[in-house]
Amino acid sequence: HRSIVIDTDTASDDAVAILQAVLHPDIEVRAVTTVAGNVPLETATRNALLTLELGGAPQVPVHPGCAKPLLRALETAQHVHGEDGMSGAPLASPVTLPQSEHAVEALLRLGREEPGVHELVTLGPLTNVATALLIDPDLLTRFTRVTMMIGAADARGNIAPTGEFNAWADPEAAGIVFAAPGDKHMVGWDASRKYAVITDEDEAELRATGTFGEFLADINRAVRDWGRDVTGIDGYDLPDPLAMAVAIDPSIVEASETAHVAVSTDEATRGQTYADHRLPRRTPNLTIVTAVQADALKRQLMWLFAREFEAV
Ligand code: BDR
Ligand code: CA
Repeated sequence: HRSIVIDTDTASDDAVAILQAVLHPDIEVRAVTTVAGNVPLETATRNALLTLELGGAPQVPVHPGCAKPLLRALETAQHVHGEDGMSGAPLASPVTLPQSEHAVEALLRLGREEPGVHELVTLGPLTNVATALLIDPDLLTRFTRVTMMIGAADARGNIAPTGEFNAWADPEAAGIVFAAPGDKHMVGWDASRKYAVITDEDEAELRATGTFGEFLADINRAVRDWGRDVTGIDGYDLPDPLAMAVAIDPSIVEASETAHVAVSTDEATRGQTYADHRLPRRTPNLTIVTAVQADALKRQLMWLFAREFEAV
């Protein structure tokens, strides 16, 4: 079994990514750490707990982490994901409780006590991971691989002109993480817009698989409506599930490049992730995933959801 630790500001698409990991037969989710981002921390923690319960994994420990970015005020995206982050879908309240150990302590402990065992997948602002790095600068090298949904390789933002939400929400934290040693992979919003769009037709197929497909559709309704009414795209994209799909199966990556990437903390370009392609090359600090098999995410979701449905 492979083992994954997930750091998440659990709202609608994070929940789908958590499901992908817990439903996968070859993967064990070692821990979930929550962080403020799309929704406030308590909301993220609640959503993580209820998603794990729905996915049949209530034993996975959930560690609440940082309630606000390192230096900035928390500005959520509840206008996109709904007040509860789950489109107001009727969901059972979780019965399991979060751990008392803080997310940052949990990340440090897992790195210290179980080095070289777990992969790390980050789906939100990097506040928890950056804070842990201030204490253990080599933390990321203790994970076998780090896959992050963050940034936009084409510098097209979603929350600011060139800022993708996770990078924009806590750009200082993202800068700390990008600069830290480790095998880091960035799956940006550019990839999500190209390879993770769910059309009405896709959604109908996913819904037809049963409980999990219905959950995916119901909790992403606010994002779908936002897409239709505000951004005018046909369907909606699932950034975190694409990052999780890449973490689960790196063979779906069709193109990537290594580069030295930094994050802007300037007001006008806040959260912009920018690669330095000058020659001579600066030592690359991460791998940018630039192309993914077009239907890979949907295939993985259909397989995981239908498989589990048949097993029930
Ligand atoms: C990021 O913000 C949210 O919309 C998603 O959960 C993802 O982590 C995309 O910018
Ligand atoms: Ca997220």
